[in-house]
Amino acid sequence: LVSLRRVRLVMESALTARDRVGVQDFVLLENYNSEAAFIENLRRRFRENLIYTYIGSVLVSVNPYKELEIYSKPQMERYRGVSFYEISPHIYAVSDNTYRAMRTERKDQCILISGESGAGKTEASKKILLYYAVTCPTNDHMAALGDRLLQSNPVLEAFGNAKTLRNDNSSRFGKYMDVQFDFRGAPVGGHILNYLLEKSRVVHQNHGERNFHIFYQLLDGGEDDLLITLDLERNPQKYQYLVKGNCPRLSSVSDKNNWKVVMKALPVIGFTEEEVQKLLNIIASVLHLGNTQFGEGEEGETYITTETQIHHLSKLMGVDGSALGEALTHKKLTAKGEEMISPLSFEQALSARDALAKAVYGRTFTWLVEKINQSLALKDELYHSSKGSSVIGLLDIYGFEVLQHNSFEQFCINYCNEKLQQLFIELTLRSEQEEYETEGIAWETVQYFDNKIICDLIEEKHKGIISILDEECLRPGETCDVSFLEKLEDALGGHPHFVTHKLANGKTRRVMSREEFRLLHYAGEVNYNVNGFLDKNNDSLNRNLKEVMCQSDNQILQHCFRREEVIDQKRPEMAATQFKNSLMKLMEILMSKEPSYVRCIKPNDAKQPGRFDEVLVRHQVKYLGLMENLRVRRAGFAYRRRFEAFLQRYKPLCPETWPNWHGRLSDGVSTLVSHLGYKPEEYKLGRSKIFIRFPKTLFTTEDALEAKKPEIGCLGVLYMHVCVCVVIVIQSGWRGMKARRRAKRRRQAAELIRRFIKGFIYRHEEYCPENEYFLDHVRYSFLKNLRQNLPKSVLDKNWPTPPPLVAEASEHLRRMHMRNMTLKYCRRVQPEWKKQMMQKVEASKIFKDQKDSYPQSVGRLFLDSSHVSPFASQYGVSVIKYDRRGFKPRPRQLLLTNTFAVLVDRTKIKQRMDYSAMRGISVSSLSDGVFVVHMPSEDNKQKGDVVLHCSHVIELVTKLAMMANKVSYVNISPGSIRFAVARGKEGIIDFVRGSELKVAKGKRGHLLVVSQRLY
Ligand SMILES: Nc1ncnc2c1ncn2[C@@H]1O[C@H](COP(=O)(O)OP(=O)(O)OP(=O)(O)O)[C@@H](O)[C@H]1O
Ligand SMILES: [Mg+2]
Repeated sequence: LVSLRRVRLVMESALTARDRVGVQDFVLLENYNSEAAFIENLRRRFRENLIYTYIGSVLVSVNPYKELEIYSKPQMERYRGVSFYEISPHIYAVSDNTYRAMRTERKDQCILISGESGAGKTEASKKILLYYAVTCPTNDHMAALGDRLLQSNPVLEAFGNAKTLRNDNSSRFGKYMDVQFDFRGAPVGGHILNYLLEKSRVVHQNHGERNFHIFYQLLDGGEDDLLITLDLERNPQKYQYLVKGNCPRLSSVSDKNNWKVVMKALPVIGFTEEEVQKLLNIIASVLHLGNTQFGEGEEGETYITTETQIHHLSKLMGVDGSALGEALTHKKLTAKGEEMISPLSFEQALSARDALAKAVYGRTFTWLVEKINQSLALKDELYHSSKGSSVIGLLDIYGFEVLQHNSFEQFCINYCNEKLQQLFIELTLRSEQEEYETEGIAWETVQYFDNKIICDLIEEKHKGIISILDEECLRPGETCDVSFLEKLEDALGGHPHFVTHKLANGKTRRVMSREEFRLLHYAGEVNYNVNGFLDKNNDSLNRNLKEVMCQSDNQILQHCFRREEVIDQKRPEMAATQFKNSLMKLMEILMSKEPSYVRCIKPNDAKQPGRFDEVLVRHQVKYLGLMENLRVRRAGFAYRRRFEAFLQRYKPLCPETWPNWHGRLSDGVSTLVSHLGYKPEEYKLGRSKIFIRFPKTLFTTEDALEAKKPEIGCLGVLYMHVCVCVVIVIQSGWRGMKARRRAKRRRQAAELIRRFIKGFIYRHEEYCPENEYFLDHVRYSFLKNLRQNLPKSVLDKNWPTPPPLVAEASEHLRRMHMRNMTLKYCRRVQPEWKKQMMQKVEASKIFKDQKDSYPQSVGRLFLDSSHVSPFASQYGVSVIKYDRRGFKPRPRQLLLTNTFAVLVDRTKIKQRMDYSAMRGISVSSLSDGVFVVHMPSEDNKQKGDVVLHCSHVIELVTKLAMMANKVSYVNISPGSIRFAVARGKEGIIDFVRGSELKVAKGKRGHLLVVSQRLY
């Protein structure tokens, strides 16, 4: 029972919320034909500061007249890339959706913003631009473009906006702006088209209204010097064109601040200082024109009473003053090929002056737009040719206007809206139809009012109101506004959408004046007063005034007034036709794009926040054609949603789809809706979307979901509980496993230690199970250690001490390693080095431990060859030869060849010793260098033994012995050496140790050699 009550409560609160804030899409209104329900929904949302509501893809926006915290950067982020319907309606959602459609479908888009004056169109368009400037990627190449797009706004507003009774910042021109994006989605270019500037405002303002902002901004914000150069005074009351509305100042706007903003913006959008000056000269000229006054002479001639103004004008416009004065008071006519000058009446002069002011201002405004376009234009040829780029167009144009007195301007504006409505119907139906087709749903004919009949009534060639107006303007003879009205009656009488006082029945006649015609627009009836229609359509400027302007030295005016215009006799197109043609072009542009719509509504006339004036809103809902929009949109199905989104949201309502559906999406949706009891006429399944015909069906489903939420909540709690339990089980399992692993590792470690200890105890035993692990370990450790500490060179004799167990193996390894290293070393040895080694080995064999000076010689390399001689000797060295008798020392060279040795005194051979005859070589065991080569004396060729001294005795004797192949013939005598002297006699050399080396004749005719002691 409690849960039932809770369910009801939840249901009620959901419904109350809907009651309180209304539906966010009008298609969900139960009674979509009821205007009251429509307005009530708007009001509810407005009260909650929910200013945006959809009609399908159309955004309805109500001006809050206060700053809402919904345009910040985080808000932009919220809407970025999010599906249109998933989030509350917003201008950013439209912006983002359009942008994404452009990017993904590669199709140009446009956003059409309409609504009556003060409804928030311009604000909406600025928000869209800001959204793109902030959220789109920037193109380095065109980094400043976003800036220029944004900065073009204050400039256009200064020159094209004015305070009216309805809006303090009313755009007095229609604006269509293209923003071009490159293939990456970065804005790279822009272009503006302007429509029908309200030029009449330059010369006249209704009470409580102002001229264009720029005049007041200049007078309020311009520096003193600037005003002096422009011959202006700071007081707007001084200027006739600014006093008509008796409203020089605005409480809501600071002209001074805005002046600064404009002056800052102009250079950003590419204005040079000179251009700014010329532009301001023109603005000042308009004010001076307004102050140009005329007098009437006695003979009815008109003359200028304010010569100073002409002087200022001539200076500022760069024209001839007297020519200007003449042109302002006379007109030039061409009759039968002859030019005639005729004076103007006082009134004619005034209107010529005003016409000039309007023409100058209007054309300068067009020039300004062109100039901005140059600054926004795509500069890079690459982008021009780039197929990847796409465009988003923004149309900020006057909505239906129904005033107390409606004139030519309202006629044009409402015609424009009629065209836009036609476009809207066409495109909406087209897109609906396309969607049905792609979804494979049969198209059901939608009943709607086709306003083609009204468009034709206005624009049809020869028969339409515009054609008749043009005809009347051009017709020779007396023409006036009333004659135009009569022509209309003649031509259009009987048309179901056209009525005049004369054509109307009694009831209508009572509310219409005789100077009015009534059009039954798609949005409602509007009475137009014909007064001024002809003049405004003519929009003519006397030819002589044009001629004067052509000669201006102000470049902007030169650009605005072309010489060809004067020469060309062809009459320019009338204003209405011009407008019609520009609208045709606009329609073409819009038709080529995918449209989105923003319909702006003004909640009250007092510009106050929080006030919702129902009558005013109803009026706008009607004239904006919103009910018609809704009817077209609702003609088929109220609601459509992609399968996945629908299933995701409502799956808890069906046991088969909850918590997850694993089959095909369409089957899931089908299962879900049949569980919910949808009747066949209530819905259709397309290829990827479900279409629901009535909002009620959806609301029932939505309410069921609300009611289900607590249950889903309980399920959620249960689910949480189960999750917690599962987590606990997993946790404990994991912990247990970790503990078991740890215990196992400990057990293994203990076992290991035990085996180790046992092994250590049995280490001296034979290899057995008790010590096998330990011994293996010892072996393994030794080998591992050995591997890292092997000697690196042959001379390195270190070797890790092996445990006794592996001593034998270690020794084998050591030898193997040594052999290996030696082998490697030998392989690396060069031939000379090898020879050296062999000699050293021989020297070692002969002298090691035999002669004192041997150890010293070990470190010294033996020379290869000391001298070059004619004997192709292998070796040569300086020696001292001692005579055998008398022991006289004689310096000689001893040269060794391959077969003999020879003693040479300079170049003379003193003695030749054949190796074959050599009987031996004797040296002492001390450190002296004396040696004796024993040669046979009986041989004639040989002279007997030779006593020699050489400081490299080890090297010399080794080489000699080796070359003579008489190594074993070397004797080392410890005390004395005997040698043969001629004829059987013997000489003796005695060797003793002493303090220094000495070789001298000793006792008994011996040679005494004292060798140095070596320590
Ligand atoms: N979204 C908004 N938030 C806050 N204020 C707004 C918003 N939209 C409009 N306004 C207020 O309303 C004023 C009029 O809006 P805006 O100038 O955009 O109207 P408009 O539809 O362009 O009128 P017009 O046809 O006269 O140019 C703005 O100056 C601003 O004060
Ligand atoms: Mg505007």
